[in-house]
Amino acid sequence: MTDALALLKTRRSVKPDQLSGPPPTAEDLDTMLGIAARVPDHGKLVPWRFIVFEGDHREEAGAAIASAYAAKYPDASGDQIYFETNRLARAPVVVAVVSSPVESQKIPAWEQQLSGAAAAQNLLLAAHALGYAACWLTEWFAYDAQVMRAFGLEEHERFIGFVHIGRFAGTPEDRARPALADIVTRFEA
Ligand SMILES: Cc1cc2nc3c(=O)[nH]c(=O)nc-3n(C[C@H](O)[C@H](O)[C@H](O)COP(=O)(O)O)c2cc1C
Repeated sequence: MTDALALLKTRRSVKPDQLSGPPPTAEDLDTMLGIAARVPDHGKLVPWRFIVFEGDHREEAGAAIASAYAAKYPDASGDQIYFETNRLARAPVVVAVVSSPVESQKIPAWEQQLSGAAAAQNLLLAAHALGYAACWLTEWFAYDAQVMRAFGLEEHERFIGFVHIGRFAGTPEDRARPALADIVTRFEA
């Protein structure tokens, strides 16, 4: 098996609270982001962008998440507010992949969103190839208008996900994968 195939066959999500530091080096993060940007993109529209949350800025972002949570749940406990403030600080670095479709007569918004999802997947694979572990999450706040505004999203943009990246000692156990017989058919007229 080639190294590339071995990597593709062993990628596994690792939950944010199992991701430890130190964070990826600046060079490694740039490599991951460059690979994330190297995806199929019908019309070369670049209909996605990335927001990096690192260092103390993760808690600053968390404060915006907690504030949106408090607005939704005025009776939230101190523990819940603390958890929300810490949401993006569980992993050493988090990259939000933002779908940012552009007006196009030719390329449907759907295809532009799919390209963004490919960028998120490439980010996971690049992290894995560099020896990091990662996880693609949306959680409730990816869909919250107050959080979207706080993180600078424009009206036409939405979160594809928050890719949490860090280190994980050991090999994560795999989960069951679908049997090809259940998901593959061969077209016959
Ligand atoms: C768009 C998207 C959003 C996701 N959001 C969450 C989430 O909020 N919480 C969660 O536990 N898993 C979420 N997942 C699933 C995990 O990323 C992951 O795929 C899952 O834990 C299975 O692990 P695997 O990647 O090793 O197969 C999401 C996946 C996708 C594609």
